[in-house]
Amino acid sequence: MTVSFTLNGRARSFSGDPRASLLEVLRDTYRLTGAKEVCGEGFCGACMVRIDGHPATACLVPMGTLQGSDLRTIEGIGTEEELNPVQQAFVDFDVVQCGMCFPGMVMTLTHFMKDNPHPTREAVKSALTGNICRCTGYERIIDAVMSLSGAAQPVTEAQP
Ligand code: FES
Ligand code: FES
Repeated sequence: MTVSFTLNGRARSFSGDPRASLLEVLRDTYRLTGAKEVCGEGFCGACMVRIDGHPATACLVPMGTLQGSDLRTIEGIGTEEELNPVQQAFVDFDVVQCGMCFPGMVMTLTHFMKDNPHPTREAVKSALTGNICRCTGYERIIDAVMSLSGAAQPVTEAQP
């Protein structure tokens, strides 16, 4: 079976087992390793991508369902030279630890901020219910997101 789709703005096609997961194909065929496999069951959000403008857990999406889809991964929403605003806020607030959860969080929050440019903390918490971080408390992550609407300032290191 051949499936044609757009991946980060480029036309692509996949020929193979239609039951293969999008996550597997992104990582193994296209070498887009930003989306991570952690739970593999749709619970943790580490593999979050965007399909036709909506967040989706790539580990649960069979390739056979993607004919004509517009796919976007973390590699397609910012570059090292020009981070997207959520990525930049994560850097500014120094929230990254092991980093396994962050590509998924950035995908979720980028989508969320598009529709909620001035969210409450409760709304940000709620938006993150499908993204699990095993390292950090969530407070700094939420601070980082709130900073995008001017509601918080980056954490600064204490001076010696
Ligand atoms: S690896 Fe897909 S949701 Fe956890
Ligand atoms: S930083 Fe390690 S899981 Fe979130």
